[in-house]
Amino acid sequence: MAWACASAPVVTTPPPVAAAPTAAPVHPNVTGNWVAAVPNTTDGTFRRTYFNLTQLGERITGTVHSTQFFYQVADTKWDSAGGFTLTASMRDLGSERRVVYDVKVAGPDELRVTLRPRTDRPPPATPPVALVAHRAPAGEGAMPAKIAVPALHKVKDNGIARTPAMGWNSWNKFAGRVDDAAVRSMADAMASNGMREAGYVYVNIDDTWEGDQRDAQGNITTNKKFPDMKALADYVHSKGLKLGIYSSPGPTTCAGYIGSYGHEAQDARTFAGWGIDYLKYDWCGARMLHDEQDMQGLYQIMGDALLASGRQILYSLCQYGRMEVWKWGADVGGNSWRTTGDIRDAWDSMTRIGFSQDSLAPYAQPGHFNDPDMLEIGNGGMSDTEYRTHMTLWSMLASPLLAGNDLRSMTPSILEILTNREVIAIDQDSAGKQARRAWASDDSASVRREIWSRPLAKGAYAVAAFNRGPSDAEMTIDFAALGVDPRGRTVRDLWAHKNAQARNGRYTAMVPSHGAVLLRVGR
Ligand code: GLA
Repeated sequence: MAWACASAPVVTTPPPVAAAPTAAPVHPNVTGNWVAAVPNTTDGTFRRTYFNLTQLGERITGTVHSTQFFYQVADTKWDSAGGFTLTASMRDLGSERRVVYDVKVAGPDELRVTLRPRTDRPPPATPPVALVAHRAPAGEGAMPAKIAVPALHKVKDNGIARTPAMGWNSWNKFAGRVDDAAVRSMADAMASNGMREAGYVYVNIDDTWEGDQRDAQGNITTNKKFPDMKALADYVHSKGLKLGIYSSPGPTTCAGYIGSYGHEAQDARTFAGWGIDYLKYDWCGARMLHDEQDMQGLYQIMGDALLASGRQILYSLCQYGRMEVWKWGADVGGNSWRTTGDIRDAWDSMTRIGFSQDSLAPYAQPGHFNDPDMLEIGNGGMSDTEYRTHMTLWSMLASPLLAGNDLRSMTPSILEILTNREVIAIDQDSAGKQARRAWASDDSASVRREIWSRPLAKGAYAVAAFNRGPSDAEMTIDFAALGVDPRGRTVRDLWAHKNAQARNGRYTAMVPSHGAVLLRVGR
């Protein structure tokens, strides 16, 4: 019988025993779209951060969209308290930008999200506050469809800004606090304190005038701080001044308000309809969808749109001097283009920017100017001597002169610096030629003495001597070395408002520490 075979020794192997399962941690399910909305001051808009998350076991993938930034989740790590750390990353202006959030799951519909302070900055004075995020409808906060970047062409010159723009801009002093009343009172001040007569004409509203949603027809909207933009433009025009505004080639501005992405022609028409005379167009939000290679094309779209709007609108590019904008700014219709990152009201920042502009001189020409950013004169972070240097340098650079202080409450000496007509005449010279560095002392850049010169219309010259050092210094301008023969010409000191005496082709002056002497050599 078959069983007989069974009498043969049989070795039975016991079935493998499964290892006792270690209890997998059970994480709350955070899959979904979450939004944390924080009100922006009193303007009725919200600063929104979207977390669009997909949880796969331990792992969480997804995106984070916060104002002008759109990150991919790069890493998450659960902690023992049932929360997790989320690291997200994006490409930004050629390098990687990372954010780290500590997330606590406070309930099925609530996350508490704390952004970790950046480690490359001094620690904040107060600990960061947790954002409270709730579940949001799917798709809210998603990126709009990517628009096609057009083939490049030369946008026709709009014929304005033959000399650098002059006016005022709200950002340096007011940032997010600018409102209709502030703009009106700034126009009042400019029209009554001599600035308008000195050439300041644009009153420019920077970021934070916008709503955070378009209307049903896709029109850009204003927020509560600007109830009627057309009425505001009418008011500014009634003072003999012009009104400027701000937008972005991206879906949001730097501060997270609506940008013009995909609505360029519509927005240009809206701006024209309101009576806008100047547009600052700031890259910020475009970084979420486009890399820098697309900049020229995206700026060209608005250049074309402004021309097609039928109103003469000065076009001011702001993309921090990336992609050698000075080489193509005029081609997209730009009247000026920022050449650097943001200025601060500090000697360091102002001089680092201003003295770095030498090589860009060949790109300035009537109608198209380098823009080393707005003035900080009168904002309190520098001395009057330093502000005089700021005004001197910016005028030598044929830079836009956009005051950034509170024009309603400045000291007489600040007003005098801003309205020195002889200095302004250098900035506004019709030849539109930017100064070059002609000489620098053999010291480290931050303390050296420098001489800059620029040719003016009809054979005249401007020459400036700067003393960046910590002590007053005697400086001698050797006109022959600048290719200028002062014989028979008037040499005028534009801060002293006096004719100066060149001796043997030279002029020697005591230049205070952080000060400047500015001369005009007549023809
Ligand atoms: C950027 C610009 C600034 C200002 C702010 C507004 O930083 O460079 O000049 O416009 O955005 O958000």
